[in-house]
Amino acid sequence: MTKPLAGIRIIDFTHVQAGPACTQLLAWFGADVIKVERPGAGDVTRSQLRDIPDVDALYFTMLNSNKRSITLDTKKPDGKAVLEKLIKGSDVLVENFGPGALDRMGFTWERIQELNPKMIVASVKGFSDGHHYEDLKVYENVAQCAGGAASTTGWWKGEGAGPMISAAALGDTNTGMHLAIGILTAIIGRQQTGKGQKVACSMQDAVLNLCRVKMRDQQRLEKVGYLEEYPQYPHEMEAFADKVTPRGGNAGGGGQPGWILKCKGWETDPNAYIYFTVQGHAWEPICDALGKPEWKTDPAYTTAKARQPHIDEIFATIEDFIKDKTKFEAVDIFRKYDIPCAPVLSMYELLRDESLRKSGSIVEVDHPARGKYWTIGSPIKFSDLKPEVTASPLLGQHTDEILAELGYDGDKIATFHAVGVV
Ligand SMILES: CC(C)(COP(=O)(O)OP(=O)(O)OC[C@H]1O[C@@H](n2cnc3c(N)ncnc32)[C@H](O)[C@@H]1OP(=O)(O)O)[C@@H](O)C(=O)NCCC(=O)NCCS
Repeated sequence: MTKPLAGIRIIDFTHVQAGPACTQLLAWFGADVIKVERPGAGDVTRSQLRDIPDVDALYFTMLNSNKRSITLDTKKPDGKAVLEKLIKGSDVLVENFGPGALDRMGFTWERIQELNPKMIVASVKGFSDGHHYEDLKVYENVAQCAGGAASTTGWWKGEGAGPMISAAALGDTNTGMHLAIGILTAIIGRQQTGKGQKVACSMQDAVLNLCRVKMRDQQRLEKVGYLEEYPQYPHEMEAFADKVTPRGGNAGGGGQPGWILKCKGWETDPNAYIYFTVQGHAWEPICDALGKPEWKTDPAYTTAKARQPHIDEIFATIEDFIKDKTKFEAVDIFRKYDIPCAPVLSMYELLRDESLRKSGSIVEVDHPARGKYWTIGSPIKFSDLKPEVTASPLLGQHTDEILAELGYDGDKIATFHAVGVV
């Protein structure tokens, strides 16, 4: 089967997570992704948080599958010449260096266009061009703070109150996914114009794009003065006094209130919980499931707004109903009533989840140095493409092969090795 991106060559000048996640996705779909790394060291994630001495860390192997690796010192004249050749023969260059690093290396947008007018140059930065913070270097949690996720996540009162970081990579992998959409769009655009273009996605923008409902809430709050679906309504109206969207704990973000509820064993199992959503049109089935038929007709419960003052009582009733049921048993009951809910799944459980393994969302890969390991496969499924995840490359594993493809002979390649260009 020909993969859809076969024939697209990508120079993968990325490191850490945001850039590598983007190029890994494109490699799964068939692009020839050539990871360009500094000789001797490579991507810093190869050596960070190693679980096996001297073997590429899982951080690296889980973000760089299906790629080839060439080492190249792009600050040396010969290294620059190799990169120029690569640019001339490639479709896309993806980078996520600190602001200005590519320019300092001599590869400005103008220079790249001179070398290859069809080139698409895709970048991740912390902030967008021209932003008053454009010079800042940024990692995941910095982006979550700058993009609105941290101020709207967590508890608004009590112990642990304050902005909170999500464990999900909203700044890193999420930005990489946005960038991948930008790259594919630019490739389609190039089919029409014959020209490449610059594509950029800032981590702040990518986080903000996921905080759309919170920006919605900010505007509603400024207009209406309160947010009726927030847990503070109506008992803690002072939380809305400063007209700043408050944190909502585990509340649902849409029009359907939801909460994380305790199940059997929560006292000792940190993940013995389910998420339960009180979906408007599922109210009657919820009453049936809970054995509370009187709530079906009581005007104090029949609309979402009427229920909100009683939402704690409603959740307490559900918790009481499931206190002798495991999270899986609880979901098995509620699913019969079409109630949107799920168990809180731990990483231990997800790693062993048969459905995820069957669908290819979790896959086992054989690596030449570490042996077998599990990684997260393509979250996107196709009818005519089953992405196969292969091992991440060892540092410089394909250096000689790629140099030969670029036309360098054995003597020249040996010289490059001898003088540390590769
Ligand atoms: C992630 C980040 C904070 C790391 O910062 P850092 O470790 O200081 O690394 P930088 O990217 O700033 O710098 C890399 C340097 O290595 C150099 N370099 C990279 N690859 C090289 C190569 N193959 N040969 C020679 N030099 C190389 C760069 O030219 C740059 O040098 P310079 O600063 O002297 O110009 C920074 O890259 C960044 O802000 N990136 C943009 C946002 C982002 O993607 N964040 C991470 C999300 S996971």
